[in-house]
Amino acid sequence: MRPALTQFGEQMSHLTGVRAIMKDIIETLRTAQGREFINLSAGNPVILPEVEQLWRDCTIELLDSPEYGEVVCRYGSSQGYQPLIEAVIADYNQRYGLNLGDRNILITPGSQSLYFLAANALGGYTTDGRLKQIVLPLSPDYTGYGGVTLIPEALRAYRPRLEIDAAAHRFKYRPNFDQLEINATTGFVLFSRPCNPTGNVLTDDEVRKIAAMAEPYDVPVFVDSAYAPPFPCLNFTEMTPIFGPNIVHCTSLSKAGLPGERVGIAIGDERVIQHLEAFLTNLCLHSPRYGQAIASRAIRSGRLAAISEQVIRPHYQQKFAALEATLDEAMPTNLPWFLHRGEGAIFAWLWLKDLPMSDWEFYQQLKQAGVIVVPGSPFFPGLQEDWTHTQECFRISLTASESELAEAMRRLAQVADRVYAQSSISQTELAAR
Ligand SMILES: Cc1ncc(COP(=O)(O)O)c(C=O)c1O
Repeated sequence: MRPALTQFGEQMSHLTGVRAIMKDIIETLRTAQGREFINLSAGNPVILPEVEQLWRDCTIELLDSPEYGEVVCRYGSSQGYQPLIEAVIADYNQRYGLNLGDRNILITPGSQSLYFLAANALGGYTTDGRLKQIVLPLSPDYTGYGGVTLIPEALRAYRPRLEIDAAAHRFKYRPNFDQLEINATTGFVLFSRPCNPTGNVLTDDEVRKIAAMAEPYDVPVFVDSAYAPPFPCLNFTEMTPIFGPNIVHCTSLSKAGLPGERVGIAIGDERVIQHLEAFLTNLCLHSPRYGQAIASRAIRSGRLAAISEQVIRPHYQQKFAALEATLDEAMPTNLPWFLHRGEGAIFAWLWLKDLPMSDWEFYQQLKQAGVIVVPGSPFFPGLQEDWTHTQECFRISLTASESELAEAMRRLAQVADRVYAQSSISQTELAAR
């Protein structure tokens, strides 16, 4: 049977961004025929024993409590499970000196669904036919933003400014405030902080500036804090979560060890939360409650924040340090390679400037050397202009072991050396760029 699809049906039945590449990776691994690969494509967090134990303990506490039947045998409120809402309010109010009430919180089935709700409630066509844009102020950003809107033309990403430290082979993306437009045509603004894929952390001032640009137009700014403090606390540089009248702080428990339970949390103005909540009710009534119930225990007791800071963050920070050290040692200094500053998240982002082939072709070459990384081009959703940079970058997952990361980076250095050497651009020309 071949059912006729609607426009939305068509749109939603295509896998976007990195999911399309994942298909190739799965196929490569499936047909490997005994060949070993170092797979640095994973977005799935590592199962850390202390973190797993925390969720086990919270589950045992839940099973032993009279609350259990109430949690799994009954429907609940659309807004979320009350003890989790209360735990989040108490934690954030105390930690950040806020004055949140329970109308400021919405629990969603994972944060991906939260962006879907926002994208389609606030982006797209208004009742009088005007297009409200979903503004991504700093491209590249999370590839999943490419799939959340039913109206693809609503997505508008902005090319960043590049801050390059040539001698150190490092770089950092900065928002280009000369280009960025937030105005009456903007539905909402969205960015991840820390950023997947780059590990970038927008500074506190940059976030405040974006929020200030949006405020006069009543435009909400969604800060995707899937990697931010207080949990999972995957920032390697100082950062303060920023709150404000038009900021919706969005977090997720996925990188804090609970991706299977799908818990996303939106914190913001009750008038924005209300719209998202109604949308969620229409979609699925409410988020599943088992994950919420164990999360309420982990947050209320302070255990989640403590484990995030003491176990989760150091784990990935050490991996980044190992990767960085190997690249510095192994990459030819005359090549124009630049590693994005590792400020957080669970990935490294490598830019091979003037790469004499596309990111997809380099990914294929690297596969021949037994290493799988993710080509960077799917991480520029909504960017409308041509920019060769989009085909010169790679996302490297920090979920492998230190020795695997080091070996993979040595092989990557050899492949890079070879492909630049085979190209028509002379080494002297490269060094001069
Ligand atoms: C930046 C970012 N936002 C959102 C998500 C979605 O997370 P979840 O739906 O598991 O909360 C991810 C997942 O990798 C992510 O990296």
